[in-house]
Amino acid sequence: MCSAIELLDDVYYVGVKDYNRRIFDALIPLPHGTSYNSYLIKSDKYLLIDSVQKGFEQEWIARISSVIKPEEIDYIVMNHAEPDHAGTISYFLGLNSKAKLITSQKGFKMAKRFHGVSSDRILAVKDGEELCLGNKTVKFIEAPMLHWPETIFTYLKEEGALFPCDFFGFHSAKSLDENDYEDLEFQLKRYYGEIMMPFAIMGKRAIDKIKDLEIKLIAPSHGPVYKNVKKVMALYEKWTAGVTTEKVIILYTSMWKDIEYMVDILTERIITQGVKVVRYNIINSDLGDIAADLVDSRALIFGVPTVLNSMHPLGISAAYLAKLLKPPLKFVLLISSYGWVEAALGEMKKIFSDLKAELIGEIAVNGPATKSEIEQLLALCDKLIAKVKSLS
Ligand code: FEO
Repeated sequence: MCSAIELLDDVYYVGVKDYNRRIFDALIPLPHGTSYNSYLIKSDKYLLIDSVQKGFEQEWIARISSVIKPEEIDYIVMNHAEPDHAGTISYFLGLNSKAKLITSQKGFKMAKRFHGVSSDRILAVKDGEELCLGNKTVKFIEAPMLHWPETIFTYLKEEGALFPCDFFGFHSAKSLDENDYEDLEFQLKRYYGEIMMPFAIMGKRAIDKIKDLEIKLIAPSHGPVYKNVKKVMALYEKWTAGVTTEKVIILYTSMWKDIEYMVDILTERIITQGVKVVRYNIINSDLGDIAADLVDSRALIFGVPTVLNSMHPLGISAAYLAKLLKPPLKFVLLISSYGWVEAALGEMKKIFSDLKAELIGEIAVNGPATKSEIEQLLALCDKLIAKVKSLS
């Protein structure tokens, strides 16, 4: 039988674990499943923070019921309207005829449209608004585009607990204890790259907004809760500032090894120059790992061939992903190969034209690279390495 887990005095974890989910947004792999975290605050009034994904109602309600009957709860906060957190709000409001749904002004419309909540059940709050529950007070902090427009953070003042929904979270069903993750930084980075990196500016604004609050516990809506607040905040401050390192990420695929041969040569050259390089063949790579490495890579080498008079379709997909995630890349080098007509380079340049990165050069080879083409490639590589080192 599931029970609530008390995290702080009268602050409970009442979320659920989804061990079997393997994909999110029909895009990002979840090798470790995920959790849909929900929290319950007990005072004179009871306040529930977020619901869970549809299909997990039974476990969620069982955890809540170990503290209070669900129908006696006074408020449910919708920090974020995405269905993994808001998907069972209407179910809950069906069980409980008195509770108000608290959300932002933008969340008001989403609660009605996406979750069928009637206007009279919704209490739309403003940025900084507070609600007294008795001996505990919660404050609502607008955090737009982290990562939807309506997102808010909920802050429990007396306990110094921040509930920032997806911000600071990561996908794992493994444990609620941060100390159980040897790879905590990598998991945080992977999720930041997948979900928050496109909104780094808004992330920086949100950090500025909360950095003077006394925060003793960060309780996001996926993964573990953090008492090591400084560590998590420092990582997010670095990533939202777009700090890059001497690192080159290579994304490529190759039909007849012509591109892979060039990638091998580039990889070796970069390593021998003392710069870190990570490479992903996009046909069999985990998009989450790529997103994590895009968070702090300073340069991208992108290589896909022309096929059927166009850029290779998997290359188009990978290029769009890299562009949409808005990584803080500073430099780009494009490589390609073709059989009888070259078409990929132009398409690559068009897709990457939105990236605020300097195009260092481009090269397309007709089949296997010749000796002089390898020399051109190495010259471009040396130029790229010099640029990467120049920013350190
Ligand atoms: Fe975890 Fe944006 O939902």
